[in-house]
Amino acid sequence: MKVLKEKVITDGVVLSDQILKVDSFLNHQIDPLLMKQIGEEFAERFKHGGVTKILTLESSGIAPSVMTGLCLDVPVVFARKRKSLTLQNKLLTASVYSFTKQEESKIAVSSEHLSASDVVLVIDDFLANGQAARGLIHIVEQAGAKLAGIGIVIEKSFQEGASPLREKGIKVESLVRIKSLKDGKIEFVKEANV
Ligand code: G4P
Ligand code: NA
Ligand code: NA
Repeated sequence: MKVLKEKVITDGVVLSDQILKVDSFLNHQIDPLLMKQIGEEFAERFKHGGVTKILTLESSGIAPSVMTGLCLDVPVVFARKRKSLTLQNKLLTASVYSFTKQEESKIAVSSEHLSASDVVLVIDDFLANGQAARGLIHIVEQAGAKLAGIGIVIEKSFQEGASPLREKGIKVESLVRIKSLKDGKIEFVKEANV
């Protein structure tokens, strides 16, 4: 996605060989117009998937997910990372290990909002090691729902996340794919369409 790639180049800050900071448009401040374009792009890529619901993880997955939900005309559910007072019904949960934080956390979705008749598009801001994506897929499985695929805003292709998912036959659509962040430079995976 050209406009996103350009935004990553102009506004992204390489913090290390592993981490790209995009706080100015995705992880802290949000660029609404860019989110709208991201939503349209995901909608285009998954429009034939029969999607009935979008599932993401708070907090940074919410903005791109809502814009996609608007385009596909489906509700957006976000998994919670913290216990919620109002989350009382039967919970679908998964453990997510964060390599960046080196800690295990639990994510939860009320079974009220996901059912066996749903076809779910999972969306997240980053795909690094794929732990969050795996946790969300586990929640989709517990609901007995069908997975339409995974939409990722920024894939770090040099980490282990994407390949095992694609090898399982899951449709993983990443709007930009980063090959390397070495020496403070952002190098993208070369793609035919951009
Ligand atoms: P994984 O899910 O792919 O295994 O990744 P990991 O545990 O390493 O990610 C933990 C958090 O760090 C996630 O956000 C993830 O989106 C984010 N993250 C991973 N790599 C990068 C990166 O290069 N740049 C940025 N900006 N974020 C990265 P989170 O803790 O769930 O936070 P949030 O959704 O509230 O923003
Ligand atoms: Na994040
Ligand atoms: Na995230």
